[in-house]
Amino acid sequence: MEFLDLPPMLGAAGTVRLPGSKSISNRVLLLAALAEGETDIRDLLLSDDVERMLEALRALGVAWERAGDSLNYGVRGVGGPFPVKTGDLFLGNAGTAFRPLTAALALSGGEYRMSGVPRMHERPIGDLVDALRQLGADISCTANEGYPPLHLKPATIRPGGVVRVRGDVSSQFLTALLMALPLTGVETTIEVVGELISKPYIRITLELMARFGVHVEQQGWERFVVPGGARYRSPGTVFVEGDASSASYFLAAGAIGGGPVRVEGVGRTSIQGDVRFAEALAQLGARITLGDNWIEAAAPEGGVLKAFDLDLNHIPDAAMTLAVAALFADGPCRLRNIASWRVKETDRIAAMATELRKVGAEVEEGADYLVVTRPQRLQPAAIDTYDDHRMAMCFSLVSLGGCRVRINDPKCVNKTFPGYFDAFARVARPVPVVAIDGPSASGKGTVAARVAAALGWHYLDSGSLYRLTALAAMRAGVALDDEAGVAALAAALPARFEGDRALLEGDDVSDEIRSEACSVGASKVAVLPAVRAALFDRQRDYRVAPGLVAEGRDMGSVIFPDAGIKVFLTASAEARAERRYKQLMEKGLPANMQSLLKDLRERDARDAARLVAPLTKLPDAVLLDTTQRNVEQAVAFVLDLVQGSVRAPG
Ligand code: DC
Repeated sequence: MEFLDLPPMLGAAGTVRLPGSKSISNRVLLLAALAEGETDIRDLLLSDDVERMLEALRALGVAWERAGDSLNYGVRGVGGPFPVKTGDLFLGNAGTAFRPLTAALALSGGEYRMSGVPRMHERPIGDLVDALRQLGADISCTANEGYPPLHLKPATIRPGGVVRVRGDVSSQFLTALLMALPLTGVETTIEVVGELISKPYIRITLELMARFGVHVEQQGWERFVVPGGARYRSPGTVFVEGDASSASYFLAAGAIGGGPVRVEGVGRTSIQGDVRFAEALAQLGARITLGDNWIEAAAPEGGVLKAFDLDLNHIPDAAMTLAVAALFADGPCRLRNIASWRVKETDRIAAMATELRKVGAEVEEGADYLVVTRPQRLQPAAIDTYDDHRMAMCFSLVSLGGCRVRINDPKCVNKTFPGYFDAFARVARPVPVVAIDGPSASGKGTVAARVAAALGWHYLDSGSLYRLTALAAMRAGVALDDEAGVAALAAALPARFEGDRALLEGDDVSDEIRSEACSVGASKVAVLPAVRAALFDRQRDYRVAPGLVAEGRDMGSVIFPDAGIKVFLTASAEARAERRYKQLMEKGLPANMQSLLKDLRERDARDAARLVAPLTKLPDAVLLDTTQRNVEQAVAFVLDLVQGSVRAPG
């Protein structure tokens, strides 16, 4: 299983250019395909769902062309029903392709088979099929009645009159009918049965149909009259707005992580209902500013978001972002009227509840609502994403709580936003890490501790964890080569640090872990992969605001590969032997330069030849040779690196 680990973040600020809207992209593609004339579509979204639509259109005889590597597409409309009269279409999990194509194909007089991924076959389409059957369409559900796959056969269509469609499961059924009915050329009235959900999506449909020359008469949200003799005509050029649902993650990031975060591509003049997510965020106290083509969000005056109780029926997709924002609100938050979540890419109510609980939230789940109460402290967790792009994007926000989070199957964002995590990384500011490594007696420990103290950052002496593990094993009588036994001890190591004292089960063992026996023991247990794995998360947990200086072998390669600064501290073997010699003399201990030098050289060779976490300078590490430098100079060198790299807040 692929995953992406997001580090704890200090905050978020910056600007993001949004990818094109999925809803608009797939609607415009279909309308351009059915229209007379060529349409030049600008800023189309490049994503899986749009790919599925493009493939289907090509298979159905619609010629389109991408201009080089750009986001501009030319579509040669067919001016009516699809010319290709047979086809077998695979539409993945793209509801915005599946539903409208079903309606357009049902009225195209051919024989078509339509299918998708297994989840697509669990997503209802019965209400649309029923409506199309009223018009005479011959559609069968080949597996389960009411669900894809579908088999469409040529049939005599009887347009006109009144067609009823339910509006309370998915607004896409109404959208599909609206877009397809002009193919009949006959005035037809659609009556919506049940309370229409997700109304703003119908606005997008009507607005785009109008741009292609078909003006639907709207009577409230109950009746829609598609005029007779209407034909789609290309408006020439169409610009696809940025995706307002995708904007929600960045706006929430600004509201949670300080901000301001600005999204470009949607704004005051947007036709997408999800821009109203910004209003919801404002009700949570976030500071929102709107331009024609941008929206900006910053944290509330007091910093903390207000608890909320909101009916979110009008913004079902962006509302998911609020479920995660609830982790940062000052009380229980209620998301109401969200039943449609159950029939989306996954059962989003169940998925959201399960994953929010993993990070420690208390969640009450109802048929059409969620109540989310944040935990005292967010817990690191591996988040499952259910092949649902929005689950992945939403849960990236957990990192803004200073909590690392693993996103499983992060590529599911390709459905609508392939570059999501890169964009998130451009606005989110990780808790900085300085990773320091080097050969033994290079002074890395002293330098690292002093740098941490100077910065007021946390300090991790990872070697002492291996030393403590070795000591715990020796005390428990576990053989140092008993990998499983030592790993079990390491996983539950009852150790902690207080200032520069190391405690094991409450005993001060600071000196004992520096003994020769513990040094030898540590180097033995440190080559056991299971032991390293057992200490992995524990070491990552030291990454806490405002920053961490981490010292040890694999800090920059394995534990914090994204560390902003990596330093390889070294000195000639002679210089190191001399330092060790002085230390021993000061302590009144016997010492011999020649044997110290020999020991060090042998140890260097062993460390470098080790199969597990060998000593090596990483390509992205800065070399700091202290042969000619004292400790103060080395500390100053590292502090300079930090000053030059840590971005100022905001
Ligand atoms: O840095 P030190 O001498 O306290 O380390 C003790 C042992 O643990 C030494 O053999 C190196 C090993 N070690 C490791 O393998 N990985 C680390 N991150 C830190 C130390």
